[in-house]
Amino acid sequence: MILDGKRVSEKRLELLEEKIGESGIQPHLAMVLVGEDPASLLYINMKHRACERVGIGSISIRLPVEAGTDEIIGAVSRLNNDLQIDGILVQLPLPPHISTRAVVEAVAPDKDVDGFHPLNMGRLFMGDPNIIPCTSRGIMSLLEEYHIPVAGKRAVVVGRSIEVGKPLGMLLLFADATVTFCHSKTLDLPAHTRTADILVSAVGKARFITASMVQAGATVIDVGTNYVQGKLTGDVDFEGVSPLAGAVTPVPGGVGPMTIASLMENTFQAAWKRQCFPVR
Ligand code: GUN
Repeated sequence: MILDGKRVSEKRLELLEEKIGESGIQPHLAMVLVGEDPASLLYINMKHRACERVGIGSISIRLPVEAGTDEIIGAVSRLNNDLQIDGILVQLPLPPHISTRAVVEAVAPDKDVDGFHPLNMGRLFMGDPNIIPCTSRGIMSLLEEYHIPVAGKRAVVVGRSIEVGKPLGMLLLFADATVTFCHSKTLDLPAHTRTADILVSAVGKARFITASMVQAGATVIDVGTNYVQGKLTGDVDFEGVSPLAGAVTPVPGGVGPMTIASLMENTFQAAWKRQCFPVR
């Protein structure tokens, strides 16, 4: 079975468009982009298009690649104080001379639609989430949509990033999976991945997960976005793995569109909370 993230995300966006229409509020998302990275530019454009589609206003703040950490934090602070803006997203990765940690911590937690601020991450880890990181939220929605059982299942997450691996592992844990985190120092990775009922790869290496690493019938979630000769490719050797897996996400058309739909949901959630229950 192919887990069709494109279709499910369309369905979720349609639902969200209705919800936003009925809410009587118009959410606004601000995206901060530093430099000219073509992949980041592409993602920002896709996010703008999704905003338009559901009725979220969106702006981009562009800063040159030479901008310093203070300049970026300054831009974020202005957005924090802007009453028009409900959600703020700083497109990652930032150039290497920037302190990503300082920038992420500068975003007001209630506008942090990425869910990367330590307060939001901490709340998630305590089982009382405010805003859930988009990719993780999107993957959980996809599993739910296809009625893939999680409770009691063995989930193996390959990759331990703050953006995907760690928060997704937590969500799977709270959904009562038995979770194993694997990473670049894991010994005998295939021995771990072959135990997985749900295998998630968030590594960033094309064709990293091969058929011999997958248990027959497993659900395989491919978070990879690798460009091979200009073509978007996941972490999973799709041709080899798909005949064997019970379910698998394609790249493109799997996790990516779910991430964008979740960003829209997070933005509406932040706007609803801020505009209807403002902290005075
Ligand atoms: N770059 C890759 N994934 C993400 C994400 O989820 N959020 C942001 N802000 N940047 C990213």
